[in-house]
Amino acid sequence: MKKPVTVIIVGAGGRGFAYADIARKFPKLAKVVGVAEPRDFHREKMVAEHGIAPEMTFHLWQELAKQPKLADAVAICTQDAMHEACVMAFAKLGYHILLEKPMAPTPAACRRIVAAAKKNGKMFAVCHVMRYTKYTQCLKRMLEKGAVGEIVSVEHLEPVGFWHQAHSFVRGNWRNEKESSFMLIAKSCHDVDWLSYVIGRPCVRVSSFGGLYYFNKAHRPKGAADRCLDCKLSKKCPYSAKEFYFKRLARKEGQGWPLDVVDPTFKKANLTKALREGPYGRCVFACDNDVVDHQVVNFEYEGGITASFTMTAFNPGGGRKTRIFGTTGCIETDDSSVIRHYDFLTEKWDSIDTEASDASMAGGHGGGDGGIFSAFCKAIQKNDPKYIISGADATLESHLTTFAAEKARKSGKVVELAKFKD
Ligand SMILES: NC(=O)c1ccc[n+]([C@@H]2O[C@H](COP(=O)([O-])OP(=O)(O)OC[C@H]3O[C@@H](n4cnc5c(N)ncnc54)[C@H](O)[C@@H]3O)[C@@H](O)[C@H]2O)c1
Repeated sequence: MKKPVTVIIVGAGGRGFAYADIARKFPKLAKVVGVAEPRDFHREKMVAEHGIAPEMTFHLWQELAKQPKLADAVAICTQDAMHEACVMAFAKLGYHILLEKPMAPTPAACRRIVAAAKKNGKMFAVCHVMRYTKYTQCLKRMLEKGAVGEIVSVEHLEPVGFWHQAHSFVRGNWRNEKESSFMLIAKSCHDVDWLSYVIGRPCVRVSSFGGLYYFNKAHRPKGAADRCLDCKLSKKCPYSAKEFYFKRLARKEGQGWPLDVVDPTFKKANLTKALREGPYGRCVFACDNDVVDHQVVNFEYEGGITASFTMTAFNPGGGRKTRIFGTTGCIETDDSSVIRHYDFLTEKWDSIDTEASDASMAGGHGGGDGGIFSAFCKAIQKNDPKYIISGADATLESHLTTFAAEKARKSGKVVELAKFKD
């Protein structure tokens, strides 16, 4: 049995804790031995939960990067715009790198990351967690065995959820393109990547439409206050921060994400202060958000295969919904878990519950968090990159498709990938 991989968490926020928790559940796989995090509460929590030594505890990744290599790997879980500088520094030091998606908010930065990762020559994985779920792996095997004959077209929906949109993309970290990145790369790069993986061919051109329809001043109800705590309309507003976060605080199972982003202490007084003073207490119609709340993308892949993708805020959220239409059958799935398959020859439906058959699942995203973390650690332990299915080249390809789709939305034109890549 190989030794557990030693990992330093760079950015102990939501994602940093997600991977650290998996390491704790699977001690033969990995051990968290260090942390770099500026927020005291989060850094101290990580130190306490993993018994991290004082000399392995840093406030900033820049301090860690001044040291010689202190562990096998870093998990880079800082915000999107910080990824490039982190990768440059830790690749130079020779760490294996697990990098949160998106790689970076611009194609040029993504290319620089890929070049640095290749020069480093160590394991490098981008957290396109959806590739690693049991559901996706089962679907991929079925398609490779010809379950639908040849894929001809695909329809894919990402129901972000009204509350998730309000939390992350109106009030939260990914609300504003200049401060983080645009919606398609921040959120839906998962979906663009997943489509390219499942279809298994390069995209040749894209078109796209969409915008910020609802979360703006034009939709602000008369009499709405700037802060939900002061708003007399809060009982009638599905986006009221007061109603949403206090409802979660009152329930034990509500005391996790996304409430921990607003107040990680889960205390009424602290939550009140956060909603009174912080970004999460703002009226959704009076924020500095500019990312889209709905977008459609049409893709043409090599050989004429087509796919349509919709991301929209306006639903309860939950699993992605996909239809795959092939020459001898089709597949439908409404929850990223149960695959329903129809065969044209037998004219029969059958269904496979991939979640129910999964005893090894760890972490969120339908087991994808556990899937990628264990694949990354196994690749290091066995010195074999084959476990990583979201490496530098695959990620660059699907990220470039995502950037091209955003260009198509902004220009109102069809964008050819070959020209865009040049
Ligand atoms: N794979 C997925 O499905 C998925 C899901 C959500 C978010 N993400 C991505 O993961 C990344 C992190 O997201 P999150 O939700 O954990 O955000 P977060 O804000 O909770 O965590 C980021 C952490 O980085 C820390 N940080 C800031 N400056 C730092 C510095 N100089 N040195 C070290 N740490 C520093 C922040 O204090 C914070 O704790 C983002 O790129 C995001 O887009 C991926």
